[in-house]
Amino acid sequence: MSLTCFAPFLFLSFILGCAARPFYPLPSKMSNQNRQPMQTSRPYNIAHRGSNGEIPEETAPAYMRAIEEGADFIETDILSSKDGVLICFHDVILDLTTDVANHKEFANRKRTYNVQGFNITGFFTVDFTLKELKKLRVKQRYNFRDEQYNGKFSIITFEEFISIALDAPRVVGIYPEIKNPVLINQHVKWPNGKRFEDKFVETLRKYGYKGSYMSKDWLEKPIFIQSFAPTSLVYISNLTNSPKIFLIDDVTMPTQDTNQSYWEITSDPYLDYIKEYVVGIGPWKDTVVPVKNNYLQPPTDLVARAHARDLQVHPYTYRNENMFLHLDFHQDPYVEYDYWLNKIGVDGLFTDFTESLHNFQEWTSPLSQKDSDSASKLVDKIALLISSYRKG
Ligand SMILES: *[C@@H]1O[C@H](CO)[C@@H](O)[C@H](O)[C@H]1NC(C)=O
Ligand SMILES: *[C@@H]1O[C@H](CO)[C@@H](O)[C@H](O)[C@H]1NC(C)=O
Ligand SMILES: *[C@@H]1O[C@H](CO)[C@@H](O)[C@H](O)[C@H]1NC(C)=O
Repeated sequence: MSLTCFAPFLFLSFILGCAARPFYPLPSKMSNQNRQPMQTSRPYNIAHRGSNGEIPEETAPAYMRAIEEGADFIETDILSSKDGVLICFHDVILDLTTDVANHKEFANRKRTYNVQGFNITGFFTVDFTLKELKKLRVKQRYNFRDEQYNGKFSIITFEEFISIALDAPRVVGIYPEIKNPVLINQHVKWPNGKRFEDKFVETLRKYGYKGSYMSKDWLEKPIFIQSFAPTSLVYISNLTNSPKIFLIDDVTMPTQDTNQSYWEITSDPYLDYIKEYVVGIGPWKDTVVPVKNNYLQPPTDLVARAHARDLQVHPYTYRNENMFLHLDFHQDPYVEYDYWLNKIGVDGLFTDFTESLHNFQEWTSPLSQKDSDSASKLVDKIALLISSYRKG
């Protein structure tokens, strides 16, 4: 395992070595015994697809940047290759965020499949072996973001992702989504009749992820398992007691496996049912606070009803750019964080810009002494000084 888990770190320092910030020492030079624990006293900073506001999503450098910037959890989407290897990739097709179109050898792989009731045409991950996927390079989803890293980094496997979290210099949690389980189970077959969900949990077990929320095991290797598919979560809860989060989409989207509506899955009886299996919900933020003509409307009671059942609420997705900020926030992402953390009172946020959320939390609710010993605080201070000096 050593080479695969060191390689991303070496690679990053190679590619980004002259960038503005200091990098971590190699994992081999650190003792994992006395790593700083994860903070659990303030809402979680969940690095959505890594620091994908800066670096192409779900790549090793995007995750390492997020760790460097203060993420509590690194978030990822798990799909499968044709040969059954679990990979970190958001879309079921490769078209929008890789250079697959430039690979003549794959030109005949384009397919149309029915995905949750829609006919989607493109290059599906499930039609490529891992070896073939590794030939591709990832690019930014949005052309208004920094494109200098396009074409530099490859797709990583679930195991490589886990290694990045476990090799971090402090305890960093993982937040994997079991993505499109219906489609994956239709197209990929594993030996002995195993399902995608079995393979997913097997991988987590291999690296020691277990234990209920806040247990000793959990605090050593924190994890939230997330899914939009309630039957997958119920199935997985038979296999592991790791905490799970039920994702909730736009009000118009039915669930992918049970075809239930938003109204049904956010009703009191359904929250009573799902709370037996999950520790929280991950709603699209506009379903918590509806938006009209780009202005916020009065918040729904979803957070209050979830909290009444001891369910955490981790909304998605927070993005710094003007076009994503509703007008009430005066084009200021800090005003948006302030609203969600202090007015709505959520328990975690999925952000594309880990550093912004981290800075906001450090300025408004710095961690207490018990969470962060003075030695590491000193190190943080020095790092901050260095980075502000370099930025200046
Ligand atoms: C998808 O394609 C199939 C086969 O061409 C067609 O029968 C079906 O109506 C299409 N479904 C949608 C939702 O467009
Ligand atoms: C959970 O496991 C039990 C025992 O193996 C089985 O009877 C049950 O059907 C499983 N439930 C689900 C939802 O898979
Ligand atoms: C899902 O539910 C909608 C609305 O109830 C219905 O029109 C549609 O046919 C259902 N789809 C499936 C695949 O069952």
